[in-house]
Amino acid sequence: METEKLVRAGKIADECLKLGRREIRIGNKALDVLRKIESLVEKNNAKLAFPTNISINEVAAHEALSFEDNLIFKKNDLVKLDLGVHIDGNIVDCAITIDLGNNNDLVLASKQALKEALKLAVPGTELREIGKKINEVIEGYNLKPVRNLYGHSIEKYNIHGGLKVPNYDNGDKTKLEKGQLIAIEPFATDGFGLIEEGKPSDVYTLKKLKPLRNSKAKEILEFIKEEYKTLPFAKRWILERFPNSNTYFNILVKEEILANYGNLIEKQKGLVSQHETTILVGERILVNESLK
Ligand code: CO
Repeated sequence: METEKLVRAGKIADECLKLGRREIRIGNKALDVLRKIESLVEKNNAKLAFPTNISINEVAAHEALSFEDNLIFKKNDLVKLDLGVHIDGNIVDCAITIDLGNNNDLVLASKQALKEALKLAVPGTELREIGKKINEVIEGYNLKPVRNLYGHSIEKYNIHGGLKVPNYDNGDKTKLEKGQLIAIEPFATDGFGLIEEGKPSDVYTLKKLKPLRNSKAKEILEFIKEEYKTLPFAKRWILERFPNSNTYFNILVKEEILANYGNLIEKQKGLVSQHETTILVGERILVNESLK
């Protein structure tokens, strides 16, 4: 991990979240917001570590939009904006929730839980202690944490490293170590506190390599390998790069070379809020906008 690149990625992520706060407004198109974020990141010579998620109400995560999605923000939407920026594989992951209705408590619960968790996120703290604190803060708002979504360690070109940072006391006594790169992401809900996988999203990842006969499909696969490595990407990005390539993209899916991510829905269709930042343990917070 290269600290200087992480710091730079963090500053760009801050700008993206600010853009989200400005642009996620009733009547605006979600796809326009995604495109603005994409061009902001590109302008700064960085890359997205995964397709930016705009997930609304009971959808907790993984909602990325395809060309066909004409989603327009409307009154009472509770909008999660979750994004990752990387420079040469040095990744920061962050999220905020924007409330277009009257769900202030839900927003505060996950934000305050993140702030309190950060105070504990120092070398020597057991992972379960962070989860316990998150749970405690969220329950203080008469809400529940989502127990089957976790924060995580981050490695180079790998968003989900070996460590899981729980949102409740899961008994994990693993201790944090100085210099570890971790994302903490409390989710709060007025539902059951569990999510399940819903419909397929526009997000894919390279699962395994396999020889291909079709030369166009091969070309797309080469591009994916080179550009995204094992990071998730949007089908929309591929269709922008290779116009009229839907058939060839589908070959890669059918051959199980690519795997799809389903979106994640709260089990009782409860509303879900989320705040997330990435830190170097014992050193610094990389994305500050998620705490505002
Ligand atoms: Co994350």
